[in-house]
Formats: sequence, C-alpha cells, structure tokens
Amino acid sequence: MCKKPYYITTPIYYSSGSFHLGHCYTTVICDAIARFKRMDGYDVFYLTGTDEHGQKVQQRAKDAGVTPKQFVDKLYDQIVDLWKVLDISYDKFIRTTDDYHEATVQKIYEKLLENGDIYKSEYQGWYCTPCESFWTESQLVDGKCPDCGREVKLEKEESYFFRLSKYQDRLIKFYEENPEFISPKSRMNEMINNFIKPGLKDLCVSRTTFDWGVKVPFDPKHVAYVWVDALSNYITALGYLQEDDSLFGKYWPADLHMVGKEIVRFHTIIWPALLMALDLPLPKKVYGHGWLLFGNDKMSKSKGNIVDPFFLVERYGIDAIRYFLLREIPFGSDGVYTNEALLARTNSDLVNDLGNLVSRTTAMVTQYFGGTIPAPNAYTELDRELIDLCLATLGKVRVDIDNLSAPDALCNIFKIVQRANKYIDETMPWALNKNGDKERLATVMYVLCECIRFSATLLAPFVTNTSSRIFQKLGLPMPTNFDGLQNFGGTPSGTVVTKGENLFNRIDIQKELKELEKIAQELASKNQPKAEPKQDEELVDIADFAKIKLCTAKVLSCEKVAKSDKLLVFKLQVGDEVRQVVSGIAQHYSPDYMIGKTVVLVKNLKPAKIRGVESNGMILCASDDKSVVFVTPEKDMDSGKEVR
Ligand code: MSP
Repeated sequence: MCKKPYYITTPIYYSSGSFHLGHCYTTVICDAIARFKRMDGYDVFYLTGTDEHGQKVQQRAKDAGVTPKQFVDKLYDQIVDLWKVLDISYDKFIRTTDDYHEATVQKIYEKLLENGDIYKSEYQGWYCTPCESFWTESQLVDGKCPDCGREVKLEKEESYFFRLSKYQDRLIKFYEENPEFISPKSRMNEMINNFIKPGLKDLCVSRTTFDWGVKVPFDPKHVAYVWVDALSNYITALGYLQEDDSLFGKYWPADLHMVGKEIVRFHTIIWPALLMALDLPLPKKVYGHGWLLFGNDKMSKSKGNIVDPFFLVERYGIDAIRYFLLREIPFGSDGVYTNEALLARTNSDLVNDLGNLVSRTTAMVTQYFGGTIPAPNAYTELDRELIDLCLATLGKVRVDIDNLSAPDALCNIFKIVQRANKYIDETMPWALNKNGDKERLATVMYVLCECIRFSATLLAPFVTNTSSRIFQKLGLPMPTNFDGLQNFGGTPSGTVVTKGENLFNRIDIQKELKELEKIAQELASKNQPKAEPKQDEELVDIADFAKIKLCTAKVLSCEKVAKSDKLLVFKLQVGDEVRQVVSGIAQHYSPDYMIGKTVVLVKNLKPAKIRGVESNGMILCASDDKSVVFVTPEKDMDSGKEVR
C-alpha cells in the first residue's frame, strides 16, 4: 500500500550562539509528531537545519577571530550533538551554506527577477542585527526593535526589492479560503491586524554592507537577504530546481511548518508571497507555538537566562526533558520553565505513575508466576473498562496530534497508566495470591501487562528511550507501528518479563533544588566580572606611563608552544628588528589567522622565559569574560611605530 506523504519542518536554527532549552522545544515537538505519524502509517519527511548566513554570523566570527565558515561549522557540530542527545529523528539536515542550497537560492532570485517580482532601488530603514530584520520608524517600540527590544541601526544602501505589496490581496484571499493555514487562530488575527491591514510594503531582499551570504547572481556585490535565503530551505532541501527533484514532487507542499510565535510573520506573509511569485503551492499549515519562559523572559542567551539542555539531559535523562517539554507547556501559549516544575513533573508522572506501574507489575509477575506472563481467563466488567480504555486511546491521541497538542496526547495516554495503577489497588493481587485465587490473579496480571504494552506503544513517539526500556522489561519487541493496538490480547502468554532497574528514580525535590542552586551560583560566580579596583589605586603619573614603551609590530610567524593549550610563540617585525614574543591567546586565535596581522607590543618589558620559551615583550589584548581580542591600529601602520 502506498503511504501518504507527510512533510514536517522546524525552523532552521541560527548559527550565531549556543543553544538553550527553548531551542529544543520546537524540535522535540516536531520529533514527537514525526514519530507518531510514522508509526501511524505515514511516509514522513522531517526536515531541520541551520541558518548560517548573515551579518550577525559575520560579526560574531570576526569577534572570535575565525572565518564565518569556521564559526558556523563549530555551531553545526554543537547542534547535531544536541539533536543526537535528544534523539531527534530528522530525515534531513540542511545547512544554508550547503552548495546545492546556495545554487538554488540563486536560481530563485533569477526566477523572481525574470517574473518582474524583483527590482532595484535604495533602502533606508532601521535594522536589528540580532533579529536580521528591517523595521520602519513607526514599527519601532521606544526606538528599539519591536521583537527583541534591542538597539537598531539606521541603514541606507542600494538594494533589490521584492514586490511583496503586490501579493497583499491574494494573501488575504488565501487566508479566507484556508482558515486553518495559520494556527492557533489568534495568530491569524495578529498577522492580519498588525501587518496586512496597515498595508504591505515591498521587501528589501539584498544587502551590500556585508558579504557573508548567497551572492545575488545578477549583481554579485549584493548578498541575498537572510530570510529569503533561510525560508527557501524548505524547498531547496527537497531538490526544487535541481536535477533530482523527486522529493519535491512527493512532499511539497509541506503539511506543517512548526515555528515559534516571533517568526510566524515571516512564514505566513513573506514565505507564501514568495511561493506565489514562484508559482508554487502553499504549505498546508503554519503553527506558531508559544515560548518557553524562564522567569518572565523568553529564554534566550542575549537575555542571559539560559538553561543548558546538555546539562539537564545528563542529570535527569533524555526522557525527563522530552516529557517535560511535551507535557508541561500548554501548547500554543507560553510556558514557564522552573527547576521545580521539571522535578515535580518527573516525580508525579514518570516516577509515580509510569515507573510504579511497570515496577509493580513486573515484580508481581515475577513473584506470583516466576516471571512468565500467564494466559488470561474470563474478563470481568472491571477488566472490560480497562480494555475499552486501551482500545479507544489511539483514536483520541490521533485527534490530539492532528490538533498539534502533545500535552493532550500525553494526558490521554497517561489515563491508561493511572487507571491501571488504580486497578491494582482495586483488584489487590496480593490478596488474590494469599487466597490462592490463581485464576483471577492470572487475568489481572495479563490485563496489567497489556495496559503497559498499550501505553508504552503510544508513548514511543514521545519518550523513545523509556518506551524501548519498557518493551525490554516486558520481553516483547519494540513495535514500529500501531497495528498491535487493534486488539487487546497482543502479548503472547508465556512471555518472560524482567523487573530490573527502576525506569526512573524518585527525586528528593528539596535537596535537589538546593543542589541546583549551588551549581547555578558557582556558574554565576565564574561568569561574574571581577570587582573593580578602587580608583585611587589605579591612578598613575604621566611620567610613570611614559616609562612603558608601546609600538606596532607585524606578525611574521606564529606557532603553538609545545605541550601548552594557551601559548603561542610569535616572530614579530619591529622596525628593523625581529623579536620573539610569547602570548597566551592560543584559545582565541589560530596561528594561521595571526600571520600578517599588526599588533601592539609592550617593547621594553624585561625578557622572560615562559614554559622555557624566551619572550621579549608582550602583545596587548582586550578581554571580557568570554573572549580575548588583540589590539590593532585602526588603519594600516608600519611596524615599529610608537603607540601612545
Ligand atoms: N533562523 C530563524 C528561523 C529561520 S526558518 C526559515 C530562527 N532561528 S532561531 O534559532 O532563533 O530559532 C529557532 C526556533 O527556536 C524558533 O522556532 C524559535 O521560536 C525557537 N525558540 C528559540 N527560543 C525559544 C524559547 N525560549 N521558547 C520556545 N521556542 C523558542 O528564528
């Protein structure tokens, strides 16, 4: 039978910083949906990736003293690691620096130009570099970026424009004919009232003030606007305008673009208009989820309140984190992350409900039947209640997933778990055993094992690791689809269970909170800037300052000092003289990068041996708690020139 295709995407992640728990939210939700759909018989294509171009990346790379490509490569490794740690089952990972993507973005620009959708003009507007967004004066809030509240810069440059205004009426008509296109509904109203009704302006789609981007093919001093570059990933990844476009034929239009609420605007106005201009069908749905908040802020590095997913997974296990993200945040709205909420949710649902059911059942099958699941006898009314619940749950979860509500789906699955725990109290297997009622005891054990099989199968898309551990305990193969949920009775009697270790261990919340506070304080104090020395201690006389001889020097060669992570040894041209100087900047600069650079040297420092290597002077650097940068003259300057 030919499976129905289902194409789901996350946004592609910015490669300009490190990743926090908020970033994991979109990806984990999409992963659960993708896994559910696969098990439910769909031919799923799940796309994620990285957004690697733009001014912000170029700037950060410069700050770090590396090339933009080196910079994004490092972040790419980091995010691929993160998705591995969180067991994300994407089918393709796209990087906007991939050759095929860049070439296709160029073809897209050419096509837009040919169709008359792109024209050249001059842009003047307010640009927010962190958000890579242009704003008009009236859109600014208190003169700052309306999305992130940071400073904006007035920029003026020759640019190409996309005729976005031309698509205003078609967009409104499309929304009217496809009321499900933007979800939740509130976001649709937001788009219409805040952006469409005030009138769409043509969009500036090229930049000339930096060059880290896809070159505009018909005018290569321009690079493509990062959002056009980024949004195109959804079709370039499928082979659009490439030799093999079979994936595009099969999966486009996308079934679901899952995005955070702050980028709904790009996905529901600019993206559909671009697709209209390219004469392509539009995606079926854009879902704008809420933010994971930490305190009152969107969790983001720029606001300083990061929760490190690597740390949390290492400490509590992958499924505690996946479960929390999927279960705790009311879908579509913002949700607050607190350590306490994570620990309480883990204890109540995973330890008390699920962990308990599995450990009690496997312990009883071991104690009463030597570990072998017995065959059931006649079912009672009570048993039927559980059987009906198990059989009805897949249908309910399917509806929840179609509504994109992971919390509801998990709530429904946990109804089986909670009902089964109650069933243990109602049937009192220990009393049945004591009274020698083996026949009823066998049925009760069988019903419990089946309830576990149903819940673990349904949980597989959400808490992948736990589900597979449950199947190991049940002695059954891990299912790859939901076929086994059509009948109650799928567990063959005679299957041997293993009790083994607990699925989850109870956390002493108060103790753990204190521990976490201690760790947070340690981290904060590591990052605290050192207390300022008192002013009067700092003041020096001009005559004292004059004793220090500073001058420019050109790097002739640079190598790492053997057996040291921190030290580089330089040969510097200082006027007619060549000097050897050792500097502790190896963690911030590569030797290759330093060659040819002009630095500022403290010339009259007493010679010293550092790790056995002679050093005649010191290279001046500026530093903060994150990076160290060397000081260099603002314009070209010969070596040996005095610095005062
Ligand atoms: N690069 C753009 C997307 C281009 S798609 C054509 C971008 N990248 S991002 O790295 O900033 O964000 C990626 C996803 O992470 C977005 O869906 C964003 O909403 C999500 N999150 C980032 N911080 C978040 C929270 N604190 N909470 C929930 N999701 C958030 O935008």
